[in-house]
Amino acid sequence: MACLFGKSAEGDDEEAVLKLPNGKEHRIKVLKPTSGEDLFLDIRDLHRLTGYFTFDPGFTCTGSCLSAITFIDGPKGICLYRGYPVPELVEHAQALEVAHLLLVGEKATKEEYKSFKREIQKSMLVHEKVKAMFANFTINAHPMAIMVAVTGALSCIFSELDPFDEAHRWLACTRLIAKVPVLACMAYKTSIGQPLMYPRADLSYAENFLYMMFATPMEEYKVNPVAAKAINAFMILHMDHEQNASTSTVRIAGSSQANPYACIAAGVASLWGPAHGGANEAVITMLEQIGTRENVGKFIADVKAKKEGVRLMGFGHRVYKNYDPRAKVMKGLVAQVLKELGVDDPLLGVAQELEKAALSDDYFVQRKLYPNVDYYSGIMLRAIGIPTSMFTVMFAMSRTVGWVSQWNEMVAEGQMRIGRPRQLYVGPQERTWKPEDMSEEKSPSQTVVNFAPRRSSSFSKRVPDVSTR
Ligand SMILES: CC(C)(COP(=O)(O)OP(=O)(O)OC[C@H]1O[C@@H](n2cnc3c(N)ncnc32)[C@H](O)[C@@H]1OP(=O)(O)O)[C@@H](O)C(=O)NCCC(=O)NCCS
Repeated sequence: MACLFGKSAEGDDEEAVLKLPNGKEHRIKVLKPTSGEDLFLDIRDLHRLTGYFTFDPGFTCTGSCLSAITFIDGPKGICLYRGYPVPELVEHAQALEVAHLLLVGEKATKEEYKSFKREIQKSMLVHEKVKAMFANFTINAHPMAIMVAVTGALSCIFSELDPFDEAHRWLACTRLIAKVPVLACMAYKTSIGQPLMYPRADLSYAENFLYMMFATPMEEYKVNPVAAKAINAFMILHMDHEQNASTSTVRIAGSSQANPYACIAAGVASLWGPAHGGANEAVITMLEQIGTRENVGKFIADVKAKKEGVRLMGFGHRVYKNYDPRAKVMKGLVAQVLKELGVDDPLLGVAQELEKAALSDDYFVQRKLYPNVDYYSGIMLRAIGIPTSMFTVMFAMSRTVGWVSQWNEMVAEGQMRIGRPRQLYVGPQERTWKPEDMSEEKSPSQTVVNFAPRRSSSFSKRVPDVSTR
């Protein structure tokens, strides 16, 4: 099969010509985005016209939707929200201004911002029935496990929602932006057995998070402005990142017209893993295991040897093949926050040494592996007093803004064709089922069934080697 680029006969549109094994040719339109140099082959009619499918596990080169929310240029290390560079937003904007930008598409006017802020604040209270759920989770439950449950439970309260009604969608999006941070803090308070704190109307979005996390009914709590600035930045940096695993999960769940609160719960579940949002927690575990700068060389050697279970967490990205611009901002913030709070965290030294060693090592250079946003964020959160188990929860509460914006865009733009990938079947061919007598014997035998643990194998080893036919 060969694929050639050229100009279409009809006009200026570029097209590619696919030569198929049966000698036939298939013309494919080339689609261009409004920013960046990526080109897309429009294969929507490929199967209908040729009988062929494409095979792309992990969607490494497949575009699944049109979106006008976030633009990433991986090779150049650029990330824009609605056209604005994310580092500029971190420097100059409030988290709720950015939430408005992502959801609505434009920067809010002063009046619009005031009204948006009021709307979010009004929606921050959670139904007492949802609050009551927290009493029933076990004391050791991971806060992400609690988040999957309580976010999904919002769909019990708001079950009659019509995704095709614009006003209903707006309510769902603003309620989620308002309530998820409250649920996050309730999950934390539950885990440490403290009373749940209600949000306050006089505090900003970031300040309220700190208040609900750390205040108690016993005494007045004053929000530290350095911590509030850091949380505001963290929230903005994590709000959206185009079609990552969790956002794609939300879109696929939403494509069946499912309740949006349930779709966001699906996003929370997808984010939890260490290859995605769980990486910030995994970075701290890794740095603690390394312990001191002296052990960095041995750890790098283990990573390069691909020792089972050893990876440089917080490094690498599917899209960035350059320094993640969010990681650059985070690295600067960490140093600033630790200095202003007077915190001396030995893990920062280990992280810096590890980064230096990796960026000058051929293994990482050749694979274009750089720190991602999760590499330094945990050290900043630790300095503020956030426990490690809450790191991914904070990612989820920030990413909720992106999830609802992407879900709303998908429905509003009529991109609701159900997500339904194909598979390359590698199972047994058709065979005949021979019925057997499976009724139980009167005195069951004492045979012990041995459920031996299965050896885990890496994902790549599980991908079948498919030869071209
Ligand atoms: C983010 C991530 C899941 C992207 O995965 P991906 O796009 O499928 O990339 P691949 O796993 O195909 O990586 C390509 C190569 O780099 C290696 N690699 C990628 N990330 C690596 C890491 N963090 N440490 C060591 N090697 C890594 C892979 O082993 C592979 O090497 P190979 O060609 O010799 O097999 C992956 O880089 C990763 O696991 N990073 C650590 C977890 C993390 O920080 N996640 C947060 C992302 S924001």
